[in-house]
Amino acid sequence: MPPLTEHRKDQIEMHREVAEMYRRRAGYPFADDFQQERNDILLSLTPDEPGTHALDLGCGTGIMLNHLSRRFRRVSGMDISQEMLAGYDRTGAAPDARISLFRGDMTALPVASDSVDLVLCRSALHHMDDEVRVLAEICRVLKPDGRVVVGEPANDNPLFRLARWFIRRRPSFGKTHTIDRAYTRAQLRDMFDRAGLEVRREIRFGFVAYTLCDNPDVVPVLKWLPAGLARSTGRFLRGVDRVCSRLPLVRSLSWYTMLDVRRRASS
Ligand SMILES: C[S@@+](CC[C@H](N)C(=O)[O-])C[C@H]1O[C@@H](n2cnc3c(N)ncnc32)[C@H](O)[C@@H]1O
Repeated sequence: MPPLTEHRKDQIEMHREVAEMYRRRAGYPFADDFQQERNDILLSLTPDEPGTHALDLGCGTGIMLNHLSRRFRRVSGMDISQEMLAGYDRTGAAPDARISLFRGDMTALPVASDSVDLVLCRSALHHMDDEVRVLAEICRVLKPDGRVVVGEPANDNPLFRLARWFIRRRPSFGKTHTIDRAYTRAQLRDMFDRAGLEVRREIRFGFVAYTLCDNPDVVPVLKWLPAGLARSTGRFLRGVDRVCSRLPLVRSLSWYTMLDVRRRASS
């Protein structure tokens, strides 16, 4: 790995602490259902034809790896945090899958140029201190006809910006928490463009369910309800979110966005 900047050291420190939170999250059915719905949408952006090599960058506890193993012959998950990688559970992976996890830094990928069919990056880009450099690395390792699927917090809604500012001020988030980092549509497109990548499609996601189901430790409301009630409340809220994501104007105000990205022909 290249020498670590202060920011990346802080990221490692922070994820040493939050790794346990990720493991706990999987134990709440309402939170797990929510993650599953987001995962299904991300997977719907991956190519129909199964490919050879999928690379999940900032894979954390590997929430996408088993899904990818059913579509790709080889799946690699990379993360800077050993504690996050240690949370990976292979249950549900394709039996013959070649899944490898390794520690690495997204700003300098230890991966050959033009070698990857799919790069997936779920909620990790906003943890970088140099996003364009990371995206340029993604562009380098991607095959010319490869695909990049990205999910990131969105920041087009002034109310959500205010909420992020408020949450950021809580001492529990510490100095390194990145809840305040999120991108407007224009910022995202500009970053991808500067790295030689092109956004082809965008899916907006997350309104009410996002706040109450995404992370039960951060917004501990549903986790205090009986499990069955919490789960049906989550289902209802996800239904509301699906309606919101179809309404013109409202849809662009979501908490989260998912992108289908390709290499620009000239890159
Ligand atoms: C919000 S978590 C997302 C994890 C996972 N993709 C998910 O959706 O559950 C962000 C991840 O990015 C990782 N990360 C932060 N900086 C990194 C870097 N420079 N290189 C690789 N991974 C990094 C963190 O360790 C963490 O696991």
